Amino acid sequence: MGYKDVYEGWKADPEGFWMKAAEAVDWIDKPSRALFDENAPIYEWFSDGMVNTCYNAVDRHVEAGHGDRTAIIYDSPITGRKDKVSYANLQTRVASLAGALRDKGVTKGDRVIIYMPMVPQALEAMLACSRLGAIHSVVFGGFAANELAVRIDDAQPKAIIAASCGLEPGRVVDYKPLLDGAIELASHKPDFCVIFQREEKPAELIAGRDHDWFAAQEGVSPAECVPVEGNHPAYILYTSGTTGAPKGVVRPTGGHLVALNWTMKNIYNADPGDVFWAASDVGWVVGHSYICYGPLIHGNTTIVFEGKPVGTPDAGTFWRVISEHNVRCFFTAPTAFRAIKRDDPTGELIKEHDISCLRALYLAGERADPDTIEWAQDVMKVPVYDHWWQTETGYTIVGNPAGIEALPVKIGSPTVPMPGYDVQILDEGGNPMGPNELGAIAIKLPLPPGTLPTLWNAEERYLKSYLKTFPGYYETGDAGMIDEDGYLYIMARTDDVINVAGHRLSTGAMEEVLASHPEVAECAVIGVSDQLKGQLPVGFLCLNKGSGSSNEDVVQECVQLMRNKIGPVAAFKLAVVVDRLPKTRSGKILRGTMVSIADSKDYKMPATIDDPTILDEIKDSLQGIGYARG
Ligand code: COA
Ligand code: AMP
Repeated sequence: MGYKDVYEGWKADPEGFWMKAAEAVDWIDKPSRALFDENAPIYEWFSDGMVNTCYNAVDRHVEAGHGDRTAIIYDSPITGRKDKVSYANLQTRVASLAGALRDKGVTKGDRVIIYMPMVPQALEAMLACSRLGAIHSVVFGGFAANELAVRIDDAQPKAIIAASCGLEPGRVVDYKPLLDGAIELASHKPDFCVIFQREEKPAELIAGRDHDWFAAQEGVSPAECVPVEGNHPAYILYTSGTTGAPKGVVRPTGGHLVALNWTMKNIYNADPGDVFWAASDVGWVVGHSYICYGPLIHGNTTIVFEGKPVGTPDAGTFWRVISEHNVRCFFTAPTAFRAIKRDDPTGELIKEHDISCLRALYLAGERADPDTIEWAQDVMKVPVYDHWWQTETGYTIVGNPAGIEALPVKIGSPTVPMPGYDVQILDEGGNPMGPNELGAIAIKLPLPPGTLPTLWNAEERYLKSYLKTFPGYYETGDAGMIDEDGYLYIMARTDDVINVAGHRLSTGAMEEVLASHPEVAECAVIGVSDQLKGQLPVGFLCLNKGSGSSNEDVVQECVQLMRNKIGPVAAFKLAVVVDRLPKTRSGKILRGTMVSIADSKDYKMPATIDDPTILDEIKDSLQGIGYARG
C-alpha cells in the first residue's frame, strides 16, 4: 500500500486504523476502543486500557530474548567517554532506580522533575518514573533557576532528579546551584532530590534532602512495572507560549506508545535493532520522543550524544558518530547543519568517514531552508526529509512517510499530512482556503493518539490557546499553505513564539524579564533572521525619564538579566535603547513591522500607525546593531 491508500484508509476508519496500530503495544488490559469522545472537544485515546510505558520500552525486549541488544550508546566528545547499555542492563538499572524512588515515597501520579544533561542516566530517570506510573517533567539544562522554579511550582513534584553538572564546550555548567536556587525561589518544595554526581564536578549534597544516585539504590529492592490507564499522563513537558508562564503539555500514556511505535517504521523506516540517532537534547520534545521513548519502544538502539555539531572537536563529529555507531536514521535541527556548513563549506571532513550505513536524514524543529537541504543532500548523498511537528503533538504532523512510500521531496515543504492529521488552511473567519492560499494552519479535531489532551492544571488555557479561534479545529500557531499536490509549506508563526537554533522561545516571556529592569519603562522583543540560528531575539528598550544609567549599561544589564532569569538558551545578546516604540492608535506595538524592517523586507505602512516617523528611528537603531541594511 502506498501513502495515499494508508492515509485514505485512516480517514475512512480512524478507529480501526488506531486499534490495529495498538496491537504492536503490550497491554496489561487491552483497550475496548480507541477514541473516547464523551468530553469533546477534550478527546482521549485508549483510556480504558491498562499498560506501562517502561515495560514496553525495556522489559518486553528482554523477555523477547533481546536482552543483549544495545539499548543506549553514550558518546560524549566533550569528555571523550563512550559507553553501551544493553536492554538487560537498562532493565536492571531502571528497576533499581525506580526502587529507590518508590522507597522514598514516589507512587503512581506523583510528579518528578528531571534536570539533567545528555547522559544515559537522564533516560534511566525518565524510564524509572514511567515504571512507577510517576509523571516526569524534564527541564532543559540551558534554563536558569527561575525557569526551573516556575516549573517546580506548576508541576509540584514530589522529587527532583538532577545531575551535579552539565558540560558545554569549554565550560562546566553547575546544575546543583541552579537547582538549589530554584528550590529556594519556588513556593513548592520537593520531598527529596536524587543527585547523579559527575566526575567532572561532583556537588555538595544537602543532608536530609539530597541523596546520591547510587547510595539511594543500596539495599533497595528493584521495582516492578506499575499498570496505568491509557489516559494516564506519561509526562508533562513545558513549552513556550505567548506569556511568561510556560504551557505544561500533557502526554497521555496509551496514545504515546501506540503513535511513537507507529512512526518508527512508517516515518523513519527503522527496523528493530537499527541504530537511530536524534541529535537533540532530552529537555526538548525531540529528545523525549526520539532519543528516549520512540527508539526504545520499537526495540532500536538510541544514541545519547553529549556534544555539538561543531567544536567538539570539529565539524566532522556527526560523520564520525554516524560511521562509528552504524547509524541508520539520523534526526537533527537544520541549525546544526548550518553550523557544520559554515565551518566546513565543501564537506571535506565527511570524506574521512564512511557513512554508507545511513539511510536518510530527518530535519525538524524549525524551517529547513533550501540551501541547507541542498548542501546536506550533496555532501551526505542520502535523502533529506524535512518534517513538521510540535511539542504539543509529540511526533510528525506533516512529513515524508519513507517507511510506507518515499514521496518526491519538494524543497521548502515538509511534504504531506500523516494519518491521524486532517490539516487545513483557514482564513480569519475559519473557512477552508484553496490551494496555494496563505492562511492559518489548523488540524481538524480530534487530534490523533499521543497528542496533548490538555495542559497540566490549565484546561481553560488549553481551550483558549488551541481550540477557541477555530471551533472544531486545533490551532497550530503556524501559518502556511497547501499546494495542488497536497504538500504543506510552513511560512511563519502567528503568535509571539520565535525559534532560536531549533529552540522554541517566547518573546512575551523575554519582555516580562526586560520590563523587570528598574530603568526600563517599556520594551518589545522581536525575532530577527539569523543565518546560523534561524532567528535571534532583539530587545527594544524605552528607559524611564531622567534615568541616571548610560544606555550601554542598561543594555548590558538586560543581557545579563535575561541570562539569569531565562538562561543562556535564550541567546539574548542584542538590545537597543529607543525613545519610543511604534504602535497602533490603540496602543498595540507593531512587532511584525519591526521584524520586516530588521530583515530588510518590504512592508506596508500600517494604516493604524500612531506616528510613521517612528519607523525610521527603529530602522536607525537596528542599523546600529547591524540589521536593516538591505
Ligand atoms: N545546558 C547549559 N547551557 C546550554 C545548554 C545546556 N544543555 N545548551 C545550550 N546551552 C548554552 C550554550 O552553551 C550557549 O551559551 P553561551 O551563550 O554561553 O555560548 C547558549 O546556551 C546558547 O546555546 P545554543 O543555542 O545551543 O548555541 P551555541 O552557539 O552553543 O551552538 C548550535 C549553536 C547551532 C551549534 C547549537 O544550537 C546546536 O547544536 N543546535 C542543534 C539544535 C537542537 O538540538 N535543537 C533541538 C530541537 S531538534
Ligand atoms: P517545538 O514545539 O519546540 O517543536 O516547536 C514547534 C514549532 O517549531 C512549530 O510550531 C513551527 O513553528 C516550528 N517548526 C517545527 N518543525 C518545523 C519544520 N519542519 N518547518 C518549519 N517550522 C517548523
